[in-house]
Amino acid sequence: MKEFWSSRIRDMVPYTPGEQPKDRTFIKLNTNENPYPPSPKVLETVRDAADAALRLYPDPEAGSLRDTLARYHGVSPEQVFVGNGSDEVLAFCFQAFFGPERPVCFPDISYSFYPVYAGLFAVPYEEIPLEEDFQIPVERFLDGNGGVILPNPNAPTGIALPLEQIRRLAEGNPDVAVIVDEAYVDFGTDSALTLLADHPNLLVVRTMSKSRSLAGMRVGYAVGSPNMIAALNCVKNSFNSYTLDRIALAAAKASVEDEAYFQETRHKIMATRERTAAALEGLGFSVCPSRANFLFVSHSSKGGKELLDGLREKGILVRWWGKPRIGDHLRITVGTDEEMDRLIEALAQLTGQA
Ligand SMILES: Cc1ncc(COP(=O)(O)O)c(C=O)c1O
Repeated sequence: MKEFWSSRIRDMVPYTPGEQPKDRTFIKLNTNENPYPPSPKVLETVRDAADAALRLYPDPEAGSLRDTLARYHGVSPEQVFVGNGSDEVLAFCFQAFFGPERPVCFPDISYSFYPVYAGLFAVPYEEIPLEEDFQIPVERFLDGNGGVILPNPNAPTGIALPLEQIRRLAEGNPDVAVIVDEAYVDFGTDSALTLLADHPNLLVVRTMSKSRSLAGMRVGYAVGSPNMIAALNCVKNSFNSYTLDRIALAAAKASVEDEAYFQETRHKIMATRERTAAALEGLGFSVCPSRANFLFVSHSSKGGKELLDGLREKGILVRWWGKPRIGDHLRITVGTDEEMDRLIEALAQLTGQA
């Protein structure tokens, strides 16, 4: 029953976010959240920001946060755009940079929001198949397309593309936007920020949801040439002047200012990831080489859905897509060491090794 629905959305299939359970307590390894809380300084800032000033609109230009991010990344504030989670920034990118003329390209196994945005904004798209080992075939993205968007490291594989390949993408598509979604870059991938000065068509999109433990605050940002940032502002200011509220602006700034906490937690997660990957390999899992805060794994004798259901019964949530080529894979977020010990034990039982 879709009476009154616009014909534009009647056939649309929206993105499905990972489950946020309400009925019981799970070990939640299904949405790539950070297992550690935000920095204590962020929490203190949030408490302080909840004051009478909330009656006033926030700064529509997010000046203070943009200045802080610009200093942190060594760019000018005109090169920084902030939004309500990187999902919103990515949605603005589709509107700002991709049009109906030529298809935008992204990998066939990638962030499943890209085809949804393409559908919503009527942008034609081409999904380029990954290689057998899930590597990105860069040369296939250089065919005179209408733009490129891809995560680095890729999701849900966790596999990183070396910077030289990102440079090839930017050089090989000089007339269109090349967007690098660096949602997971802080867990061990080289950032394309260093390429921005040479490539005015490159835009780097970041989030504070993963490495900065702020998924609940909804803060994302983009860094690129002033020209590309102006395009994003044009879309944003035609949509909503105040995409970030006062509390989110203050929390995000405080997070960038607590470098020590950021370094400590991201390194803990990378160490836990390596230990978990080795343990899972010991159980007969094949584990993609991950540079993210998750592992993409498959088992030689147990199917993906069977393991997903078995883990759920044991109180552990992970992510599974019943899609061609990856139906036997699970994406497992890296949690605390204790959570990973519980996961390893559960998978040992489910694969008959405990
Ligand atoms: C590749 C990728 N990009 C972007 C996002 C969106 O992050 P957020 O909207 O929380 O900033 C995610 C979230 O899971 C992601 O996996």
